[in-house]
Amino acid sequence: MGRPILFSTMEKTPVIKDKHILLGVSGGIAAYKACTVASHLTQMGAEVDVVMTEAATRFVGPLTFQALTGRAAYTDMWRAPGAGLPTHIAHIGLAHAADLLLIAPATANTMAKLAHGLADNLLSTLALAAACPLLLVPAMDLGMWAHPATQANVELLRQRGVHFAGPARGRMASGLEGEGRMIEPEEIVGHVRQVMGLEGPMAGWRVVVTAGPTREPLDPVRFLSNPSSGRQGFALAQAAVDRGAAVTLVAGPVDLPAPVGAERVTVTTADEMKAAVLAACERADLLLMATAVADYRPAQVAPHKIKKGAEEMSLQMVRTPDILSAVAGQRAESGFPRCVAGFAAETQDLLPNARAKLAAKGLDIIVANDVTRHDAGFGAATNRVVIVDRDGSAKELPLLSKPAVADAILDHLLQAPYLGPRTNRAKDK
Ligand code: CTP
Repeated sequence: MGRPILFSTMEKTPVIKDKHILLGVSGGIAAYKACTVASHLTQMGAEVDVVMTEAATRFVGPLTFQALTGRAAYTDMWRAPGAGLPTHIAHIGLAHAADLLLIAPATANTMAKLAHGLADNLLSTLALAAACPLLLVPAMDLGMWAHPATQANVELLRQRGVHFAGPARGRMASGLEGEGRMIEPEEIVGHVRQVMGLEGPMAGWRVVVTAGPTREPLDPVRFLSNPSSGRQGFALAQAAVDRGAAVTLVAGPVDLPAPVGAERVTVTTADEMKAAVLAACERADLLLMATAVADYRPAQVAPHKIKKGAEEMSLQMVRTPDILSAVAGQRAESGFPRCVAGFAAETQDLLPNARAKLAAKGLDIIVANDVTRHDAGFGAATNRVVIVDRDGSAKELPLLSKPAVADAILDHLLQAPYLGPRTNRAKDK
């Protein structure tokens, strides 16, 4: 088996790849974390132009950003290496070309300038000239964040449609604890994906994704479950956020961070998952059911730890509810969800089994994978799947990372004729 790829791996992804991101860095100790953000976004395929305030250069050098992004960092409004025009004129084009202006860290001073339209350095000038979305990641001392002047500026900027990520509570450079700490680079990248995806092809859609295993308790300290890692489901949730959907992620017990922007509902048993999925699907456009649901549970849950006794013991098991069949019943009455995708984990007869499940559970597509392969299915970082449509056609995807499989599944669904005309449903609400 190859080196494990973590879910947070910054691989190229359509919502970021080839996009032009202006990363503004203002002067605070959190500027060192902006280096990681620049690196992640570059690895994900973005063109990242860094614009530093004079104060930011006291904390990190422009060369650091240049090395990470492969592009010279801008620091001076009046001088640009090799440019005939002053930077603020030569590079006002930067602001016009940008898909996103991300300012991390955004200090109280920089936010005050933005709130009041000052243009006294290159970053504030570009912010005034830019028409793209603006995402601010505040970082400052707790007293500065709580100050009414800062809070009024935040409110003003929010009203103007500016996006905020954080700040978090935690330890400050001053040694004090409180709210004002910049959020971590991986979370910042999550906010970038969410903001960049807002106008995506699933804008206005409600998407429900299920992920991970379920656990069926036997006694207070034991349970029956399976090795589902939840990675494929979490990647689907991220891919839906990337396309602008409002995502509910119903997850069994897995140790993965939910994508920024997805509402996480944590469940344990199949019964709990059924209730959560039916509630979430009430007005959903799409259900992606990637959970490995336990098919049986112990008939009795012992109130206390079962003590060992005889050499042998047998367990009586009863069936858990089939959640997709319950969803099909709800859909027959209400019409929601508009589209349902199931997953089939098989160890033999992949396509016949998958087609039988598609028909039995009333699905629009089923994504089938052979879980006997070491590079696909449970726990693997990669997956090799076949997408089977309700018209019987089958599309085999090559071995891909789980995020890439998720992108391919959603792009396939977006082309599906049975989803009907894609109006922007946000306007209907
Ligand atoms: N599923 C479900 N409720 C269950 C079991 C499975 O909704 N109680 C869903 C899974 O989340 C998946 C699809 O049904 O999307 C197929 O799951 P799978 O485990 O492959 O099939 P089963 O229906 O459990 O059939 P079998 O175990 O006999 O292969």
